[in-house]
Amino acid sequence: MTGRPLVIAIDGPAAAGKGTLARRLAEHFGLPHLDTGLLYRAVARGMLDRGEDPADAEAAERTARALDAKELDASELARPDLRTPEVDRAASIVAARPAVRAALRAFQRRFPAERGAVMDGRDIGTVIFPEATVKLYVTASPEARAERRWRELTGRGIAVERAEIAAEIAERDTQDQSRPVGRLVKAEGAVTLDTTDLDPEAAFAAALAAVNAHIGAQP
Ligand code: C5P
Repeated sequence: MTGRPLVIAIDGPAAAGKGTLARRLAEHFGLPHLDTGLLYRAVARGMLDRGEDPADAEAAERTARALDAKELDASELARPDLRTPEVDRAASIVAARPAVRAALRAFQRRFPAERGAVMDGRDIGTVIFPEATVKLYVTASPEARAERRWRELTGRGIAVERAEIAAEIAERDTQDQSRPVGRLVKAEGAVTLDTTDLDPEAAFAAALAAVNAHIGAQP
C-alpha cells in the first residue's frame, strides 16, 4: 500500500444498491462515507424550500455555492426530507448544471483528505477521484432497481405506484447518461458489480472481495 488515503469510489445508476454497499464498506474499513447524491439533493431541497424553480440555473448555482461555503455540516445532509420523489426530480435537474457540479467539487475533493473515504455517486471514479484506490461500478436491471426503490418508498409510508417509479427510474437513467458533464459512465479500471440477482449480503461479499483483491494487488 502507498501512503495515500484509501479512497473507494462507487458509481452506478439510481437504486442499484450503491448506498447500502458504500455504508457497509465504510463500516468494514473504518472509513468516513459520503453519499454524494445528498449534495445534489440538498441543493434541490433548499431551492424547493424557498419556492424556487429547480430549472432556474442562477438560483441553483447560488444554492450550491452557499452549501459549499457553509462547509456542509452534517445536519444539512441528514435532513429526512431529502429522499422524496419531488426531490428526486429536482435533484436530477440541478445535477445536470455544470456550474452546480463545479461548486460541489471542492468539498468532494477535500472529503477523504485525512482519513480516506468511501464515496458513492455517478462521477466519483471518472471526474471527482479518477485516482481512487478502488473503483466499483454497481448496477442492476431497471426492473430490479424500480422494485427496490418502490419497496423503500412504500416502506417509509410514501404512497407511489410501481409503474410511476419505473418510469422515473428510466427518466433518471436517461438524464444521468445524457448530460454533458458528470455523465454516468463506467470509469476506466472500475470493477462492475451487477446486483440484480444478489441479496444485500451477497452484494456486500462480492464488493468486499473486489476491494480486497484490488488492495492486495497494490504495489
Ligand atoms: O444517488 P441519488 O439518487 O441520491 O442522486 C440524486 C441525484 O443527484 C441524481 O439525479 C443523480 O444524477 C445526481 N448525482 C450526480 N452526481 C453524483 C451523485 C448524484 O449527478 N455524484
